[in-house]
This record gives sequence, structure tokens and C-alpha cells, in this order.
Amino acid sequence: MTQPDFTNYGYQINLELGHNRAGGRITYQATEINTQNSVVVKQFQFARTGSNWADYDAYEREIQVLKALDHPSIPRYLDSFQTPSGFCMIQEYKNAPSLATPRIWQPHQVKQIAIAVLEILKYLQNRIPPVIHRDLKPENILVDSHLNVSLVDFGFARLGGGEVAVSSVVKGTLGFMPPEQMFNRQLTTASDLYSLGATLICLLTDTKSTEIGNLIDDNGKINFKAKVPHLSEAFIQWLEKMVEPHYKNRFKSAEAALDAVIPIEVLRPSFAPKKSLWIKLGMTAVSVGILMSMGMNYLEIKSQSRQKSSYSSSITVNLPSEPYYNPSQIVMGDKKINFNVTLSNLKSDNYLTLCQLSNSSGKLVAVGQSILKPTDGKLVAECGYQFNPREDHPGDWRFEFFLDGQKTAEKTLTVLSN
Ligand SMILES: Nc1ncnc2c1ncn2[C@@H]1O[C@H](COP(=O)(O)OP(=O)(O)O)[C@@H](O)[C@H]1O
Ligand SMILES: [Mg+2]
Repeated sequence: MTQPDFTNYGYQINLELGHNRAGGRITYQATEINTQNSVVVKQFQFARTGSNWADYDAYEREIQVLKALDHPSIPRYLDSFQTPSGFCMIQEYKNAPSLATPRIWQPHQVKQIAIAVLEILKYLQNRIPPVIHRDLKPENILVDSHLNVSLVDFGFARLGGGEVAVSSVVKGTLGFMPPEQMFNRQLTTASDLYSLGATLICLLTDTKSTEIGNLIDDNGKINFKAKVPHLSEAFIQWLEKMVEPHYKNRFKSAEAALDAVIPIEVLRPSFAPKKSLWIKLGMTAVSVGILMSMGMNYLEIKSQSRQKSSYSSSITVNLPSEPYYNPSQIVMGDKKINFNVTLSNLKSDNYLTLCQLSNSSGKLVAVGQSILKPTDGKLVAECGYQFNPREDHPGDWRFEFFLDGQKTAEKTLTVLSN
């Protein structure tokens, strides 16, 4: 699509940052010609199919709200003008991708993002009247690599929460909107907390914002606990309180949510993996055969003597230096990687675990077995492997995990040479 020419207005458009065709809005990164400063031009187009006066309202509102705000983490309002095709609003450019850009976040980083957004919400909620953003979601929160956070898109923001929305059109984004906003009820300072909680849950469970619906259960609650076995009970409870369907059960304000989260330790203390004996098979196929047949005999006996239980399992791959980084491909180098298998809902008993790693030609390169006992129904088996670039070949490697002789999980990892 061709980009508009705003040089007559003093701005050189560089690239499109986002568009909302239904609402007739396009956002660009641009240069202010006089100063050479980077700015954002948000164009609200006229006579676009689907756009209407409510969208003009968004333009007016965004200007009105931004003009009244003065916070380092909120882009400053700079200018606005009218063109034959619509209105344009200029604001300060924040050099950071939004949280909708796929990135892997470690739990302590998610806590840091939570604190930064709550600080901004605290500022907004302390205005008179308080400002409610109403469209908090990954797309509208910008975070750079130093974890500097900015909040953008005040097009739906509302000054004061007392009134019931006049419009019959529900604004906001499904999945991130608290129930009171969905049903056009009174909004409170707790309303943005719900949307922030939903956003943080997306980051912690690696859920795309367009797929948040997958986490919502039949009772309309965001159900994420099973996906975060590494998080502490205190952090899970804090997140659950953020996304309570009824606003009265949430924190009252950003300040209350902030005070509650600051002292929380995000990781579960007992989440220390148990090591599994792991033998690298550089030797002959015979020794592999012996080891395997020993294992299998034992497995057959065990699996006959035990009833099947309905446990669940998950595998993550990580580097010892980056425990929560779970890549699907890896550059081999001289790296050591760990495969962590987490099993839940196990009976308290001894289990025989077997890890197997095969290279892209299907050759078994490592195998490890251990007898492990679950704690509180949970068992974590850690199987480490050190690449040797002189022997190992790139391609799709396969990791398989057996519990009492039953294959319970497997994972393919793409290994790259450099
Ligand atoms: N001030 C800004 N600095 C940098 N990027 C921004 C800024 N404002 C918006 N963006 C980017 O542009 C996208 C669209 O802008 P936004 O104001 O959210 O428009 P819309 O109302 O169409 O959602 C945002 O998701 C964000 O990635
Ligand atoms: Mg937006």
C-alpha cells in the first residue's frame, strides 16, 4: 500500500506501525522534518467503509486525554491537523516493540513489566478524574530490551469511571476486557487491572493475544494454572486476583495491586529439577543394545504391576544458563542443553524414567534412566546433553521420554550448525 505524503504538514512518513481498517485508523512512524525527531502519526480516515462517528470520537478523545497527561512512559501529544482524507494526531515516538511481538519472557521479567505498567496505571488513577485506559492488551504496551515500558493508544480511554457508556458499541478487545466492560456496566479503577492480568498471563503461558480465548473456561474464568507449574503459589494467586471476573474480588486499584506484587517471589522454591542419569552413547551399538534391553525388561515388569494413572506431562528444552528459554531450534556450538520433563498427578511411588535422544538420521546418541519418586504428585526429570560439533550433525533431533516403559512425551528440536 502506498504511504501518504504529509511533507506539506512537516512530516516524512517512514513506515506503518499498525492499522485498524474497521476503525479507519493507520499509525505511522515518521520524521518531523524541521527537528528530525522521530514521531508517530496516527491517521483517522474519513469515509472508510465501516468507520463512523464513533471513530471520530476516538480521535477527539485520544487528543483530549493525551494532552492532559504528563508521564515519561506515556507518549506526549505533539500536534494535530486535518487533511482532505482525515485527521492526523502526532505524538512522541517510543522506540520499542509491543508485547504482541513474539519474545520469550522469564517470569522475573514479567514481574518487572507488571510493576512498570502498574506504576503508569497508578499515575492515571491518581488524576482527577481518574483515567481508565479501557484497551490494555499486548499490542498497546511497548517494551524495549532494557525493559523500559510505555503505554500507548488512548483512543478508548475514559476520564472518570462513573458513567455508563453511552454508546451501544462495546469498545475494547475481547478476551482482555473485564466482564463489567463487556456488559457496559460501570467501570472502576479495577477494570484496567483485569486487562493487565490477562496480558501478563499471555506472556507467562506464551499465548498470543489473538488466542487468549483458549484459556477461558466454561465459567468465563481465565484458567492458566496448569501451564505455569514453575510459578510460586503466591504469584499465581496474585494473577488470579487480577483477573477475577467480578471487579469487587480484584485489587481495588493499581496501587493496591502494586503493593501486593512487589514482595512476591515469582518462582516456586521446590522447582529444582531432579537429575536423571544420562549416558552419552559414543560407543558401540552393542552397549546401547544391552542397556536398552536391560531397561526394557525392567520396564515390562513394572508396567504390568501398576495400574495406569491419568498423569499429564510436558517437556521444555533449555540452556543451563537460561532456565526458562524454551527454543524449538538451537545452534549447536559446544552447548549443553537440558530436556526437562514435568509430570503431574502421579501416585506416590518409585517410577522408572528413561530419556532417549536420537539425531537427524534416527541414531540414538544418548540415553539415560533413573528411578525417581514424585513430590506432591509432581516429578521433574532433567536430561542434559552436551553437543560435540565434530561428531554431531545438524537436522531434526528427537527426544523421547518413557515412564515405566510407556512413552509419555516426545519433542523434536531443530539443531543448526551455526
Ligand atoms: N507512541 C508510539 N511509539 C511507538 N510505537 C507506537 C506508538 N503509538 C503506537 N505505536 C505502535 O503502533 C501500533 C498502533 O497504534 P495504536 O495507537 O495502538 O492504534 P490503534 O488505535 O489502531 O490500535 C501500536 O500497537 C504500537 O505497536
Ligand atoms: Mg492499539
